[in-house]
Amino acid sequence: MRVPVLVKVAVFALVVMGAYTYYANSIPQLRSEPPEELSLEGGNVTPEQLVKAGEGIFKGKGTCEVCHRIGQKGTRAPDLGGIGASAAKRKAGTSAKAYLIESLLDPGAHLVEGYPNIMPKVDRPPIGLNRSELWALTAFMESLGGTVDVKLDDIPKTAGSAAGGGQVAELKLPGDPKAGQAVFMGKGGCIACHKAGSVGASPVGPDLSQIAKIQTPEYIMAKILNPAGMGTVAGYPGGVMPATLGQTLTAKEYLDLVAFLLTLKGEGAAPAAKK
Ligand code: HEC
Ligand code: HEC
Repeated sequence: MRVPVLVKVAVFALVVMGAYTYYANSIPQLRSEPPEELSLEGGNVTPEQLVKAGEGIFKGKGTCEVCHRIGQKGTRAPDLGGIGASAAKRKAGTSAKAYLIESLLDPGAHLVEGYPNIMPKVDRPPIGLNRSELWALTAFMESLGGTVDVKLDDIPKTAGSAAGGGQVAELKLPGDPKAGQAVFMGKGGCIACHKAGSVGASPVGPDLSQIAKIQTPEYIMAKILNPAGMGTVAGYPGGVMPATLGQTLTAKEYLDLVAFLLTLKGEGAAPAAKK
């Protein structure tokens, strides 16, 4: 009897995803490096200092700039210019502040028209912001056309508790990144459409050089098996990424490929704007 490769891969993927979720939930404390965290709790902070700290997080640890720009359309996400004001009009009965906080903690709760549900919860890995950082970031966004009035108490107490300071231990998936790079460049055909660090150059699909910094392993794994099911990254054509990878790749090739993609954490925010 022949078991379709897709079924094999899907079962394999489910087991791996399950293992990952279990792992992530069971040992959130494990850290590979001392976390670099901002703590503002208990201190006397002026709104100006808070906004400045938030801007630093927006450009740095938050990795927001990889997807968003201010006053300019990014490739993957909406322009956040004036968001401090426009946030008040997004959801009836929701204040700008409440909407901004919800956008960070539960981005899928309200989708901006024309964009897919791809923004990760920013208090979870890989971004992993803590409560102070969420507070400062909200203040920074309020400052973009609105009034800075967010208090630390506005940020839910539970927020950031799964963050691990963004430094949760490196996940050990069973794949081999080197073999995965070969799949990326060879059988998978990914370089025909994607750049990934030093390999590939084509702008047909998004640059994947920092994908592991901005996306969860779950998203990356699901996108390969079912590109359309994950929505279409804004600014790119839908239905172009092959939907057959789950059938053509073996389970090993798939896991190696995922392991390779999870090494892509290019330094600094690449220009989000599409040339
Ligand atoms: C992987 C790409 C990605 C990253 C990283 C990302 N976002 Fe987003 N963001 C999106 C997308 C796509 C949307 C639109 C869909 C939606 O509403 O969830 C969005 C929506 C938003 C909105 C709502 C905008 C509006 O006009 O209503 C806010 C606010 C926001 N993001 C802030 C942030 C901040 C702050 C960060 C950094 C901590 C961040 N995002 C990181 C992709 C991203
Ligand atoms: C024929 C062109 C093409 C090929 C080949 C292709 N992709 Fe894509 N890919 C795209 C396009 C276009 C998008 C953006 C539109 C969308 O979301 O479907 C995309 C999106 C993605 C994303 C989401 C990026 C983000 O910013 O959220 C990932 C991850 C990805 N591809 C991985 C791969 C991998 C891995 C391979 C090889 C196995 C591959 N792609 C092969 C065209 C391609």
